Amino acid sequence: MSKPKILLTRRWPKEAESKLFNFFDVTFDENDRPLCQEELIDGMKLHDGIACTVTDKIDAMTLSEITSHKCKIIANYGVGVNHIDIKAASQKGILVTNTPDVLTETTAEIAITLILMTGRRASEGERELRTGGWEGWKPTHLLGQSLNNKTLGIVGMGRIGRATAKKAAFGLGMKVAYYNRSPISDLGPFEAQKFDSIRELCACSDFVSLHCASSEDTKHILDSEAIAALSTDAIVINTARGDVLDEEALITALEDGSIGGAGLDVYQNEPNINARLLEAPNTVFLPHLGSATIETRNAMGFRVVQNLESFFTGKKVPDVVV
Ligand code: DGY
Repeated sequence: MSKPKILLTRRWPKEAESKLFNFFDVTFDENDRPLCQEELIDGMKLHDGIACTVTDKIDAMTLSEITSHKCKIIANYGVGVNHIDIKAASQKGILVTNTPDVLTETTAEIAITLILMTGRRASEGERELRTGGWEGWKPTHLLGQSLNNKTLGIVGMGRIGRATAKKAAFGLGMKVAYYNRSPISDLGPFEAQKFDSIRELCACSDFVSLHCASSEDTKHILDSEAIAALSTDAIVINTARGDVLDEEALITALEDGSIGGAGLDVYQNEPNINARLLEAPNTVFLPHLGSATIETRNAMGFRVVQNLESFFTGKKVPDVVV
């Protein structure tokens, strides 16, 4: 029997790719360049499934162009699916899957990295040293803030929010507070104070870390009002998606010094970052590295293969997004 045809939109680490190539007839671009919309549309017409990533925009408009398509499954390599219109895909009879769990700890590590880098002014220090500006130790040089006993406010206590809270509580001695839209029955092995609004959470947090999925409901969940409730030392951390915070409001608060800083791994218009944001003071920027470890990127690939294989062999598909 011939193997199902899969379009792989971006290259994966070797181990994960080998597994995909074992099971499927895979089309991919040697040079790993992002596909344009037309290539994506043609690919979905000609392949039984597509293994896509966050950089492939599969919105309602794209899907409306796909007439007489073969594609029956969009298997996303990543947990966030805000780049895919799930409803429009389902109307076309296309199943969408993602890769939860396998990137939880890795993404939480990046949130903790940003907390440490912003709190302890690590980027500033490294830049100073590399550019020859360090004049030696002195008691008032690059004073950051201690993390021990500070309050970390988590927005979105899902898998990654909890993993971040756990690392912050047990690894850094931070207190944890949170806001979650739905009630949580079992938080896990740490104490956490619950708040009913983001504004109240912001008012009591030294660091606010965003971990909610991006959707119409969470767009700008950290808005100008919530940002205004932060103290002048407070730091905003975002490892979720660019649009869960109001980037313009954040930039203004950074520029006028009404908050202490920001550590960001995700942006509104990746990879084109707002020039004003790049100039804003007390900021640390990473290029969407949340899940970027060899172990996790292989595990994400294995999970995509598992979803595709289950689908094409008529088994229960583990990670269907509804
Ligand atoms: C995710 O899994 O959502 C990562 O941000 C990469 O897409």
